[in-house]
Amino acid sequence: MADWRRTHTCGDLRVDQVGSRVTLNGWVNTSRAYNSQVFIDLRDRYGVTQVVFEAESGPGGIFQQANSFGREWCLAVTGVVRKRLPGKENPDLATGAVEVLAESVEVLNSSPTPPFEVTEFPGEELAGEDVRLTSRWLDLRRPSLQRSLFLRHRMTSIIRRHLDQRGFVDVETPLLGRSTPEGARDYLVPSRVHPGSWYALPQSPQLYKQLLMVAGFDRYYQVARCLRDEDLRADRQPEFTQLDLEMSFVDQEDVLGLIEGLLAEVFREVLGVEVPVPLPRMGYDEAMARFGSDKPDLRFGLEIADLSDWAKTTEFKVFREAVEAGGAVRALNVKGAAGRFSNTELKPGGKLAEMVTRAGGKGLAWLKVEEGKVTGGIEKFLGAQALAALPGLLAAEPGDLLLFVADEPLKSAELLGDLRVHLANQLGLLAGKEREFKPLWVVDFPAFGFDKEANRWVSNHHPFTAPRVEDVPLLETDPGKVKARAYDLVINGYECGGGSIRIHSSDVQAKVFRVLGLEPEQAREKFGFLLDALKLGAPPHGGIALGLDRWAMLLVGTPNIRDVIAFPKNQRARDQMTGAPSPVEPRQLKELGL
Ligand code: AMO
Ligand code: AMP
Repeated sequence: MADWRRTHTCGDLRVDQVGSRVTLNGWVNTSRAYNSQVFIDLRDRYGVTQVVFEAESGPGGIFQQANSFGREWCLAVTGVVRKRLPGKENPDLATGAVEVLAESVEVLNSSPTPPFEVTEFPGEELAGEDVRLTSRWLDLRRPSLQRSLFLRHRMTSIIRRHLDQRGFVDVETPLLGRSTPEGARDYLVPSRVHPGSWYALPQSPQLYKQLLMVAGFDRYYQVARCLRDEDLRADRQPEFTQLDLEMSFVDQEDVLGLIEGLLAEVFREVLGVEVPVPLPRMGYDEAMARFGSDKPDLRFGLEIADLSDWAKTTEFKVFREAVEAGGAVRALNVKGAAGRFSNTELKPGGKLAEMVTRAGGKGLAWLKVEEGKVTGGIEKFLGAQALAALPGLLAAEPGDLLLFVADEPLKSAELLGDLRVHLANQLGLLAGKEREFKPLWVVDFPAFGFDKEANRWVSNHHPFTAPRVEDVPLLETDPGKVKARAYDLVINGYECGGGSIRIHSSDVQAKVFRVLGLEPEQAREKFGFLLDALKLGAPPHGGIALGLDRWAMLLVGTPNIRDVIAFPKNQRARDQMTGAPSPVEPRQLKELGL
């Protein structure tokens, strides 16, 4: 073949081109051989085109040759575009009205039988994920995976344009640095030049972006890689990407307003979906009380009710004692679900009850509402009066299932919050709502939580988040009551972003370090550079980081974060393809003084 380079992509050809001589480059997607014809679907990033090799048409035995082409061979084919025979058109394919009658072919590369199919057949399961991750280069030929990565690219290009138009500067911050605490473990890198000393890979660019504000950059952003050594979940990777930004001379409203505009633009341009802004806001306390989660999925109801006052009127010891000890009794009214759960499932040891105990709860109590009465589960413990009051309190009707948890106030809400999400999935409450988006801001977080195991206060966001101005005195007297000027962007039950107004006074920063148990000398040793910078005319500033991978997951519509990352780690933080992490040469360790 004289020139094997393509004149068209595999997604280009239409009836307009009938009669033209074209060259296509691509991979064998499928191949079907008949007595006198071989049909090959040639695939590239842009689409699929049917190529026909006919016994009598091509010179030099190309029909015989075509018989030998297997899946994933890489070919250059030259031929003439012709209309498909009537009835043989494929309306599912953009190129489905035409085919290319091959005149010559060049094998650019052959392929052994691939370990799994690239073609996705509707209704058929994909090969196992570890198998696909091992040959990720092949998996990445799958059109759906390619589409996800193209969508992610669209997102970042819209984001960059949006921020560029508003005066944001893209600045790169170091990967080798000092630990920036975000609540996870650090990945550490040993120094060769300074034996015994270590760099920490950044959990986020948090401190650097604040220092850029001190330096007067005013508006910074970065599509930043972050590294956290934490337990993985379906929406968590050890290495992930944030859209990280920071602004000077702003308050919470400015940051939220900017992100709302950006969010609306990305949803509009990528999905054609209008997100109504400003987004609703919900206080942390309200989110916990109603949904048992600080990242509530607002696409369905199934809200939690606080029945603590009622619980005191019952004769049930478990409930009364829980409330008397300062705890709470909370309940879910699962509408119409009484018939969906057998008593065995609900009993201690049953599937639903086990979910609660596995999450650290003490038990799950239940009742079923029937015409004129409430029965089952804890009926015999409650007393007639308390039973009679229940339907009114929970707006319960015959056929409803009532679930109760007694525990510490926060714990009881969280246990029912998990159950709420589980039940919504099991009962199909999200059916048809996969492409519905309900973003909101969760605000007014407590600044600190008490870590009972370590017996000390820990930051709920990070130690650089500003307390509410009026709460600053509480830092010294009652840290548990301090609210943070922090906000989370939540979409459909995912925490898609988090940020805050920062502390810009070195005095307040020192007080917060104190609450966290850092002695002044320790704080100086670890964060002296920050304390010094804050003293040097640091402006008020604040910002946010959006989890780009999670946001992409939502836009793509996948529950698996690995579907939006080109080369992800598996659930055990391993790169199946390269084998990382792997042992290294003893010589390398010696050089590092290890
Ligand atoms: P935060 O720790 O909340 O804030 O992180 C911001 C967002 O990043 C995403 N995210 C993750 N995505 C995938 N895998 C992970 N392991 C992972 N961890 C976090 C989440 C989260 O909301 N420096 C602050 C931001 C700020 O205050 O400006 C920070 O990193 O979507
Ligand atoms: P008991 O009195 O221990 O036999 O418990 C009666 C029922 O109450 C059982 O179904 C238990 O699972 C349930 N139960 C026990 N403790 C709790 C609790 N803290 N919250 C909700 N239900 C509970």
